Amino acid sequence: MTSIPQHPPGEPDPLRALTLGQLRRRTSMKWRTYPEDVLPLWVAEMDVPLAGPVVRAVTDALALGDTGYPAGTGYAEALAGFAAKRWNWDGIAVERTAIVPDVMLGVVEMLRLVTGPGDPVIVNSPVYPPFYQFVTHLNRRVVEAPLGAGLRLDLDLLETTFRAATAGGGRAAFLLCSPHNPTGTVHTAAELAAVAELAERHGVRVVADEIHAPLVAPGVTFVPYLSVPGAGRGLSLMSASKGWNLAGLKAALAVAGPGAAADLARMPEEVGHGASHVAVIAHTAALNDATGWLDALLAGLDANRRLLTALLAEHLPAVRPHPGRATYLAWLDCRALGLGHDPAAVFLDRGRVALNSGLPFGTGGAGHVRLNLATSPEILTEGVRRMAAALT
Ligand SMILES: Cc1ncc(COP(=O)(O)O)c(C=O)c1O
Repeated sequence: MTSIPQHPPGEPDPLRALTLGQLRRRTSMKWRTYPEDVLPLWVAEMDVPLAGPVVRAVTDALALGDTGYPAGTGYAEALAGFAAKRWNWDGIAVERTAIVPDVMLGVVEMLRLVTGPGDPVIVNSPVYPPFYQFVTHLNRRVVEAPLGAGLRLDLDLLETTFRAATAGGGRAAFLLCSPHNPTGTVHTAAELAAVAELAERHGVRVVADEIHAPLVAPGVTFVPYLSVPGAGRGLSLMSASKGWNLAGLKAALAVAGPGAAADLARMPEEVGHGASHVAVIAHTAALNDATGWLDALLAGLDANRRLLTALLAEHLPAVRPHPGRATYLAWLDCRALGLGHDPAAVFLDRGRVALNSGLPFGTGGAGHVRLNLATSPEILTEGVRRMAAALT
């Protein structure tokens, strides 16, 4: 029988801090979309208490009534400091950053700066479903360049797609997901440099969604897109929201490479008004003061990845997990189970466990599910037990 692994000494694993009873008192989407008898392992919320420094910063702000409008560049400075320490990258210049309400609205504003109505926006399916929804809502056209072998970037296909997208002399953008949701693929420096070279050659603007950047497995290196040679005309969106579970505290940062500074400067000032001051305080505290908490989380997530692999091998050997090394999402190939295009519907209906259906992730999503493993080993174990029960 698969046993639950030990957590290394040091800061406690935040994934093991809360009971199911405590989690069920939450009122967010993860916990309120399905009835009580369903175990939710879907939307990207983590089953963790917040990091102490974040709680203290927000509590102090509330006690002081410091709930006005955001001011200053503290968030950008905190991100620059985090990037320098964590990724050994000193390329974030505060004057080339702007606060945006959240990452997806930031993506929309960056695409608005570098493309026009009807222009193509290239995405690597299977990919985070809002990439389709927000791009379409902005009146741009989604063009898929599916991931290739090993669920990695297919550079040949990207080249063909870039060439076709700009063939008539029009504008086009590439919306890169780095690390990639749902596969957890961590793009290498060589892959990203190749993307930059192709984008420059074909006049495609790169917008990188790097929201999952803090969430790479221990020993794995995240490479910021803007740090690679040739990426100076790129734009990136970063946030503490995924790494520290702050989705309910809206604030993110747009970061421009040197060659995109003039584009970012055209972003209307009012866009930044959508971020909340308390959220900016929370994100800043996370980046400045809560890296110990993050490291404990990353160790716990890595243990959960291994636990999930063992549980699936024991209870559902026909399911093929993709061994992603980032995010807290696992992409599971369920095609061999013979459950059709939407196995998540079967797991929900018969097993009472909620996973994300692969279908909205675009081409490559059919027959797949996405499982959120940012939970306790006990809940993860129960989730796989329910998946297996759905097949009996
Ligand atoms: C790749 C990616 N981008 C953006 C978001 C959402 O970020 P935000 O709430 O800041 O818009 C998510 C959330 O899971 C995500 O996975």
